[in-house]
Amino acid sequence: MLFDPAPKETRKELFDRMVLGVRRIGKNSLLKVFAGESGFPYVFIDARKLSEYGYSKMSLYKILSEEFSKRKRGLEKIADYLKKIRGVGIFETHLEFDWREKELSVSSIFEKLEEYAEDNDTSFLIIVDEAQEMRYLRGHGKIDFRKIIALQL
Ligand SMILES: Nc1ncnc2c1ncn2[C@@H]1O[C@H](COP(=O)(O)OP(=O)(O)OP(=O)(O)O)[C@@H](O)[C@H]1O
Ligand SMILES: [Mg+2]
Repeated sequence: MLFDPAPKETRKELFDRMVLGVRRIGKNSLLKVFAGESGFPYVFIDARKLSEYGYSKMSLYKILSEEFSKRKRGLEKIADYLKKIRGVGIFETHLEFDWREKELSVSSIFEKLEEYAEDNDTSFLIIVDEAQEMRYLRGHGKIDFRKIIALQL
């Protein structure tokens, strides 16, 4: 029940949390341990890479491609869902999002992950490290990540 106001007691009920804290307090460690222990499939997006790749749609897709390509375990099943989107290329060793494809959007990717999770009675975790970097993706022709996340709720 999504809007139950009571404090949540099981991990399955938790969603869309931000982990905030002073530098080096252990935010990443906590998230990685949680993601690993939870057994849920997940991707870990390091938004700091945007400063290297550029704050563009192309860069975000490059980060996503790299991250999905890392997840060998269980990727095949997830790839079956993602490949329904035009612009998603599945190769033997990696998965590629083609940023030039107009049909491809971050929300279309999230939708397929959600479909996968529902069909398999699980949750797909999208962990964004240094999420404050995402705000620079906003602007004309760019991506407003907050709106995309809001769309999924
Ligand atoms: N609870 C903990 N147990 C063991 N080691 C920890 C713990 N919390 C932090 N550390 C250690 O402190 C360092 C910083 O942790 P981590 O990278 O998880 O923090 P962070 O809050 O994400 O840091 P940053 O603000 O730089 O992003 C790590 O190298 C880790 O080894
Ligand atoms: Mg950190």
